[in-house]
Amino acid sequence: MKHLISLQDFSQKEILELIELANKFIDEEGNIKSESIFPDKRILTLFCEPSTRTKISFEIAAKSLGCHVINFDASNSSLSKGETLQDTVDTLAQMDIDLCVLRHSDAVIEDLINHIRKPMTFVSAGEGAFSHPTQGLLDLMTIHQHKGLENLNILIVGDLDHSRVYQSFTDGIKHFNSSVTLCGHPDLCTKVDSSKLKYESDLDKAIEGKDIIMALRIQHERMDGQIDQISYIEDYQVNEQRLQKANPNAILMHPGPVNQGIEITEAVYKSKQSVILDQVANGVAMRMAILTKYLSQ
Ligand code: CP
Repeated sequence: MKHLISLQDFSQKEILELIELANKFIDEEGNIKSESIFPDKRILTLFCEPSTRTKISFEIAAKSLGCHVINFDASNSSLSKGETLQDTVDTLAQMDIDLCVLRHSDAVIEDLINHIRKPMTFVSAGEGAFSHPTQGLLDLMTIHQHKGLENLNILIVGDLDHSRVYQSFTDGIKHFNSSVTLCGHPDLCTKVDSSKLKYESDLDKAIEGKDIIMALRIQHERMDGQIDQISYIEDYQVNEQRLQKANPNAILMHPGPVNQGIEITEAVYKSKQSVILDQVANGVAMRMAILTKYLSQ
């Protein structure tokens, strides 16, 4: 049984196949095509951290494929009475769940898989700062839609230390002939391995000539202290002036949720170059493709 925990072991072929399949679930007007392919499958969404995009898009994706969806409400579950996550998934697996979409603040899925008594497929909906593979795939799909995936100069700017999105995206884009530059406040980029990826601390330099600007959220909930927002905005906010230094047809991405007025300005969020809402829309089709792949094994 295969699970989707990270993109580390994905090949270029697997990524392109998923993008192709996801595109088949979008009609000519850009709407999702429902196909009741899996009417007998039960999908559990088990989110132990808040989510808007990932949770709802998985639910819509699963329902569009004809699946039954069971939404686990962590805060009103027996987790709040002290039941362990392992006992929780063992309990739920007994109820004939085919696939569990799981989000957690720690990397827990591998351990759950190793100890679960009745196997079910796991798909990560984001684990700690480690991995968010379905976001990585929808980001690659969005870039593919607008620019292809080859010969691009890509900038990722923001809170890299706490970003699972950046981990999964770089695991995927490494299969393509595009270059990635990382940028962010040095205090938020302490874990960046500059022997593997290019790092530039000056955003005004880093943004020059880039085709893709991916801004990342400052993850206050994963930080011990606070950052100085005023100096952060001054040095690291993607605003109209800075965006003009990128290539004229550059696109602006952000996985969301956005701290409006911090990582990016409202004006660039709403600009023609922003594909942030395309990322959201592509999330449904990509998650339909992912569910199709992992329910078909
Ligand atoms: N990008 C992302 O994972 O957003 P949500 O937290 O809203 O799911």
